[in-house]
Amino acid sequence: MIKVAFYDTKAYDKPSFEHYGAIHDIQFRFLETKLNKDTATLAEGCDAVCVFVNDSVDADVIEQLYHSGVKLIALRSAGYNNVDVRAAFGKIHVVHVPAYSPYAVAEHAMALLLTSVRRIHKAYNRTREFNFSLSGLTGFDLHGKTVGVIGTGKIGRIFIDICRGFGMKVIAYDLYPVEGIDYVSLETLFAESDVISLHCPLTEDTKHMINSSAIEKMKKGVVIVNTSRGALIDAEALLDGIKSRKIGAACLDVYEEEADIFFEDRSGHIMDDELLSLLISMPNVIVTSHQAFLTEDALNNIAETTVNNILSYYNNDGMCDNELCYRCGNIERCKKERKQRCF
Ligand code: NAI
Repeated sequence: MIKVAFYDTKAYDKPSFEHYGAIHDIQFRFLETKLNKDTATLAEGCDAVCVFVNDSVDADVIEQLYHSGVKLIALRSAGYNNVDVRAAFGKIHVVHVPAYSPYAVAEHAMALLLTSVRRIHKAYNRTREFNFSLSGLTGFDLHGKTVGVIGTGKIGRIFIDICRGFGMKVIAYDLYPVEGIDYVSLETLFAESDVISLHCPLTEDTKHMINSSAIEKMKKGVVIVNTSRGALIDAEALLDGIKSRKIGAACLDVYEEEADIFFEDRSGHIMDDELLSLLISMPNVIVTSHQAFLTEDALNNIAETTVNNILSYYNNDGMCDNELCYRCGNIERCKKERKQRCF
């Protein structure tokens, strides 16, 4: 039996992981705490750890896991910016779930955008109080507007298809352009977009790509949608842009400092993060707590792929397609070219 310490467990994780675990003789040790240097010891006696987006898998944690005999870090997410893959190389193998439902995330991005531009969040609250006034609810048509999509991978491309269905003009920016999309420079995208939606990963290059100088180049009234990673946006610059009326609205499913806040019920607590409080207090900001992935279809795919990743590591001398490694310095190229395990 393979034993796996499952960090940051939420009620919605358990049914699908228990189901696939039971089929394949994998025993999950469900832990509510997040993985960090103080909680790494809870994985002792386990063969692998299973982590999510706000577990902190830095070099210290990797060292501790390595010495306690853990062989595999199984991310149950696509993004892996919270794992020091460089520190893991040669010690612990890292696998992820590259795609579980890109539709879930792209559809959530559009749900946030429509909610914002048609003021659905306000209308919902009003009619619950029998307030049927339309005052202040004027929106705008998406049809004919320009959307700038940054990152045209799996999610970005589905979001583009959805936007085209709405009759929007799509322009995009990506380091690796693909056929059938109208690519422009980042400057042009900032200058011409009525809506900007972020779908690229968080890397050293993309951190705070939406900062004060980027916002300065944008159209007045631009709507910014971020379902990717919080640190793509400098939240202080975003707040300044909202206060100065340059930014028309922000739809945020992610926030740079979300790790100790999101996924928990904080309604009875004083909110220490003043920046997040101010953003939420703005009438034109909508925040969801990293919920874009949360559909039944996605949860099922996440559990199935994670269990298959674990099995392929333990039962297969060959490679796991979903392994991440730092050997060649380019994770995407490495995944395509290698013929065996990373080390
Ligand atoms: P993907 O790997 O298919 O696509 C990412 C795209 O970004 C690629 O085309 C890549 O070339 C591009 N890119 C990389 N660096 C760039 C840069 N500096 N500038 C512009 N483009 C760049 O990834 P996928 O599946 O589309 O996911 C995108 C992001 O969505 C993930 O990195 C993750 O952070 C986020 N995500 C959020 C979820 C949520 O629940 N809110 C759930 C799943 C993913």
